[in-house]
Amino acid sequence: MLTETRKSGVDVVGDMPWGTHFCLFYETKADLLETLVSYCKAGLENQEFCLWVVAEPVREEDARHALKRVVPEFDRYLADHSIEIVSAREWYLKDGTFDLKRVIDGWNEKLARASARGYAGVRVTGDTAWLEKKDWKDFCEYEESLNEAIANQHLAVLCTYPLAGCGATEILDVVRTHQFAVAKRRGSWDVIETAGHKQAKAEIKRLNDELELRVVERTSQLTAVNEELTKEILERQHAEEALLRAEETVRATQTRLSRATQIATMAELAASIAHEINQPLAAVVTGGHACMRWLSAQPPNLAKVHEAVERIVRDGNDVAEVVRRVRALFKRAALEKVPLDINEVIGEVLRLVGAEAGKRRVGVETELEKNLAPVAGDRVQLQQLLFNLLMNGIDAMDLVVDRPKKLMIRSKRQSGNVVLVEIHDCGIGLPDPEKVFEAFFTTKENGLGMGLPVCRSILEAHDGRLWAESSEGAGTTFFFTLPVQMGAAA
Ligand SMILES: Nc1ncnc2c1ncn2[C@@H]1O[C@H](COP(=O)(O)OP(=O)(O)O)[C@@H](O)[C@H]1O
Ligand SMILES: [Mg+2]
Repeated sequence: MLTETRKSGVDVVGDMPWGTHFCLFYETKADLLETLVSYCKAGLENQEFCLWVVAEPVREEDARHALKRVVPEFDRYLADHSIEIVSAREWYLKDGTFDLKRVIDGWNEKLARASARGYAGVRVTGDTAWLEKKDWKDFCEYEESLNEAIANQHLAVLCTYPLAGCGATEILDVVRTHQFAVAKRRGSWDVIETAGHKQAKAEIKRLNDELELRVVERTSQLTAVNEELTKEILERQHAEEALLRAEETVRATQTRLSRATQIATMAELAASIAHEINQPLAAVVTGGHACMRWLSAQPPNLAKVHEAVERIVRDGNDVAEVVRRVRALFKRAALEKVPLDINEVIGEVLRLVGAEAGKRRVGVETELEKNLAPVAGDRVQLQQLLFNLLMNGIDAMDLVVDRPKKLMIRSKRQSGNVVLVEIHDCGIGLPDPEKVFEAFFTTKENGLGMGLPVCRSILEAHDGRLWAESSEGAGTTFFFTLPVQMGAAA
């Protein structure tokens, strides 16, 4: 509970909330004027409407003069009716008698008018020097009801009592009927608080303390939530960083894997190459032995030796040719497109896989269109492409027993200046002809699943296309197209 407070203008009182109803006991007229001038000045300077009810011996002009001396803009306040100074007889005893209800209504009317005119509230002071014994009881009743009447209103009331006119009984009555009392005697101040006022003040303090405590609690809760949030933000940042690192790792792994595919392809190749080299080598050795026999015969049969050496030279050249082709296949060079006869490339790759096909009882057939227009291609990459497609076809027929294993390669010119190549096998077929192009998709025990993705990226680099068609039991056909070399297109 934070109550809006006003400056009372009375040092010993300090700030006061709206609804304050207190009294001042005074000894001299000078003390009274000094205190009330300061009280009204504080009100005027804080946009309050002030009403000062004076009683003999203080006259209205005494109050005016006293205020004028102290409040610089007093004339303006007076002119715009920010302050009214009236006599007690006029205010309290309008019809010659004191009427509690009429006086309280009077305050409320002043308050209504003041708030309509934009004032913050009404500050009142009334002197009681006019009070006679006969009116004392009624006035006490009025003072008592005033407490309730102005609670929760933007009203503050200061009642002033001349000490000279008050006996002990009267003083007790006054103190009882006000929230608190202040007294000025021989230049020094006393403050008398009633138990109720003390209690109220204690209650306000308690509520304020409680509020402060709640603010502290809430602040610490908020701080905790804030810390939690900061922590979460940090965690998220870490997670994002980890993700970035993971992505980098994946990219690095992919690069390593495509390298690994090439190595795996080489391993597959090694077997076929060994076979191709071993055959002519065995022939060379056999030829050598034969030469030795013809030479040690009596007389040496030089004609036969000559024949054998010719065969040896031929076989040796065959071996050299195999080595040259393998070298060409693995030369790691940047993509270099030259005009190529795709039939020639097919022939080169067939010589490499031929032995492997024979070993696995696969018959290789070709239908290659004669005088095909050259395509623009990188020889090594197109060899790798064909090698993988042919090896996949051979692999796919491993389990076939009910029909002859046949691998068919066709090439032909198509409209739109492209050359189409088909590799058909009669193997197990493909359930999903697109899935096989996904990286790492493999059904083979030692497969990598990178062959077809690499093939597709090779064709993309050649502005070509690669796709598969398959029907259950009838095997699979892989197709690829390559654009015809510009200039040779016509
Ligand atoms: N001609 C084909 N017939 C049937 N399945 C095939 C054929 N070619 C490829 N596949 C399937 O596609 C998969 C992926 O092939 P590929 O990318 O070359 O990787 P890998 O040969 O290492 O498995 C193979 O494991 C196989 O299941
Ligand atoms: Mg493969």
